[in-house]
Amino acid sequence: MQAEPTPSIDALVFETLTPDMYKKFQSFVEELSPETYRDATNIPRESFVNVIYQQLSRRTTVIVGKKANDVISFGMLTVSKSLSSNHNREARIAGLIVRTDLQGRGIGSLTVKQLLKIAEGRGCRKVTLLVLKNNKAVIKFYQKHGFKITKEKQLLNADGENTAVNLYEMEKTTPRPTN
Ligand SMILES: CC(C)(COP(=O)(O)OP(=O)(O)OC[C@H]1O[C@@H](n2cnc3c(N)ncnc32)[C@H](O)[C@@H]1OP(=O)(O)O)[C@@H](O)C(=O)NCCC(=O)NCCS
Repeated sequence: MQAEPTPSIDALVFETLTPDMYKKFQSFVEELSPETYRDATNIPRESFVNVIYQQLSRRTTVIVGKKANDVISFGMLTVSKSLSSNHNREARIAGLIVRTDLQGRGIGSLTVKQLLKIAEGRGCRKVTLLVLKNNKAVIKFYQKHGFKITKEKQLLNADGENTAVNLYEMEKTTPRPTN
């Protein structure tokens, strides 16, 4: 019997999430393992898709990586309101998930690069994000992409039990061009 070919990431394309992708996006979320989902967000799984759609706006962009018409990755970026000028804009990566069975093959890297490209195109020189303090693999992943830990944060869990989540804020800055 022939071995299953390793799915390549060559055919990966990124698209902005639109209403007609609802079902495909829902299947992607439903098929994530409990561990992947737990590391990704504290939004209850049954409401995740609707919460994401509600957040789409001029400032919040959601991209999905698609392969053979299936959603295999998700990335979300929110651009801050301009301060004094477009040059002072910041962006926050508010979500990044790769389909559980396809992790560790470079898809998360391509998705984060795509988010950084969008941030740069919208004039953001600083991109921030929050990671669980105990998620060493994800911290290492973002460090590989040039993010540095800048702050420690503690947020109340959305479980109604008054438990806290320990987080790091990470940041990547792009120098202003000199001319
Ligand atoms: C974090 C995530 C998006 C990374 O995507 P990915 O496609 O698995 O990552 P890539 O293959 O592009 O990058 C792998 C690199 O990141 C690190 N990494 C990512 N996940 C890792 C894991 N589970 N274990 C070990 N290292 C990991 C490694 O340093 C690896 O570097 P290497 O190529 O030198 O070995 C993905 O694992 C995921 O969806 N995790 C669950 C959800 C989550 O935690 N999201 C982040 C919320 S802040």
